Amino acid sequence: MPLVTTTEMFKKAYEGGYAIGAFNVNNMEIVQGITEAGKELNSPLILQVSAGARKYANHTYLVKLVEAALIETDLPIALHLDHGDSFELCKSCIDGGFSSVMIDGSHHSFEDNIALTKKVVEYAHDHGVVVEGELGRLAGIEDAVNVSDEDASYTRPEEVEEFVSRTGVDSLAIAIGTSHGAYKFKPGQKPQLRFDILEKVSERLPGFPIVLHGASSVIPEFVQMINENGGNMPDAIGIPEDMLRQAAKMAVCKINIDSDLRLAMTATIRKYFNEHPDHFDPRQYLGPARNAIKEMVMHKINTVLGSAGKA
Ligand code: G3H
Ligand code: 13P
Ligand code: ZN
Repeated sequence: MPLVTTTEMFKKAYEGGYAIGAFNVNNMEIVQGITEAGKELNSPLILQVSAGARKYANHTYLVKLVEAALIETDLPIALHLDHGDSFELCKSCIDGGFSSVMIDGSHHSFEDNIALTKKVVEYAHDHGVVVEGELGRLAGIEDAVNVSDEDASYTRPEEVEEFVSRTGVDSLAIAIGTSHGAYKFKPGQKPQLRFDILEKVSERLPGFPIVLHGASSVIPEFVQMINENGGNMPDAIGIPEDMLRQAAKMAVCKINIDSDLRLAMTATIRKYFNEHPDHFDPRQYLGPARNAIKEMVMHKINTVLGSAGKA
């Protein structure tokens, strides 16, 4: 099956009360782990590439790895640019075979965000590519830029109709209390999401797909596994999985997960080396790491997304 856009996926997900997982990819084992999980559970997938991933692994390598996954799995897969920050970066991914791009103008003023997003939408739609925009600002780390809690801000529901109609975006990422990275809430803080904002946004945009970034749950077992095997991570708190499942039943059609994959992979490799300090064949530790990614994605599909059997 060739790459698909997210249009059909989101329509079905919205109507069916589930969400599509958007997983960040940086190398072959990650692509394989995610897509083997999708294949086993017959789930559609979004594989997303950040600017940092493109710098690390090279655009062509990542596109070709995803093409290989399409051949191996025959699943509906969208290839998406995560957090595009300029027209040039989006254009390069559109010209280079992606089926979806995000233009993240959330750090700009409302008017500048609209102007930049509209420019990307015009180019993307002319080339059969869909666009995700963002309104509101998440806290946390993106591409080495650390947005402090004070600079983060919730999406204002009263702005969403104007943003969507003036830009022509196909989906909208909103800020309701999720954030990037492993440290989403302070120790002792009770995780909370602003479902009232999500509700108001979806009332204003009926049927329109909403995106949640920063949606890793930071499963304690993996932080513990890292710390039991030579790591030194402080207490980390993520988004409870039942809250994400609730969001997926509402207007949220795309849920972004990266940190949970990083934790699973790193915990597995640390444990491996602790148990086999004399091993040095990369296949010996990357194999179990790939398996851990597969299991994590299967867990997300079953517990958070509800997308099993929807391919
Ligand atoms: O939102 C950011 C994603 O987790 C990608 O992270 O920019 O370090 O590749 P990265
Ligand atoms: P996490 O850091 O919560 O996995 O979020 C990933 C993300 O939003 C990628 O765009
Ligand atoms: Zn993000």
